[in-house]
Amino acid sequence: MIRAARADEVDAFFDLTLLVDLHMPADQLPALKSTIGEALADVRPPFSHGLNHFLLATLDDQPVGAVHVGPARWMLDRKIPARIRRTLVEKVTSVDTIAVHGDHRRQGIATAILTRVESDFAAAGYQALALRHEHRMRHFFTAHGFTSLPRLAVDLGPAGLFTEYDREWKYAVKPLDPAVTFTTQRGLTVVSGLLN
Ligand SMILES: CC(C)(COP(=O)(O)OP(=O)(O)OC[C@H]1O[C@@H](n2cnc3c(N)ncnc32)[C@H](O)[C@@H]1OP(=O)(O)O)[C@@H](O)C(=O)NCCC(=O)NCCS
Repeated sequence: MIRAARADEVDAFFDLTLLVDLHMPADQLPALKSTIGEALADVRPPFSHGLNHFLLATLDDQPVGAVHVGPARWMLDRKIPARIRRTLVEKVTSVDTIAVHGDHRRQGIATAILTRVESDFAAAGYQALALRHEHRMRHFFTAHGFTSLPRLAVDLGPAGLFTEYDREWKYAVKPLDPAVTFTTQRGLTVVSGLLN
């Protein structure tokens, strides 16, 4: 079963989050846990927790998988005009964390979680999922219909081309709407049609 995480499940959600290589110093983990706790207490539409979706996959009501989906940091970059940032967070979202307990892997749980995420965001009119992933996770995301790119490049119409690069990460994008396509501009693979 895949359902919204409850406020009293912060420990279980955080333990699953720690299965991801977060590229984060240990002394920042308590702050991350309290951020998750505050977010889980903030239950409101349109997703499980506002613009964030915190879901748990359970077996016999025991959490075995977790996902956090929500606006990515780049969408809030002040280089992007405020009007476009407001539109972006209603058109694109990002899989921030996806993890399945080691005892329950390769049974399709992460696949079921991603399928649920896609259908919930597509139903809300979102046009794409865009995420950052470790190089070694490339196969997992491309097998699930994402295009993995060394650099994020997004056509923001009149606001131009937004790009982000971090050598530690790759970027992956999955259109949820046929209006979103990949084009080539200035030698880069560019996500186009997001703001249509
Ligand atoms: C990545 C991760 C979430 C995948 O979870 P999972 O539930 O094992 O994923 P799935 O079972 O849906 O799919 C994974 C593989 O199992 C295979 N699989 C799915 N169902 C299967 C089944 N019933 N029998 C055998 N294999 C199966 C899939 O084909 C896939 O194989 P592939 O990667 O070789 O293509 C999990 O390995 C994990 O938590 N890793 C640590 C955290 C992490 O790195 N997260 C990603 C970064 S945010």
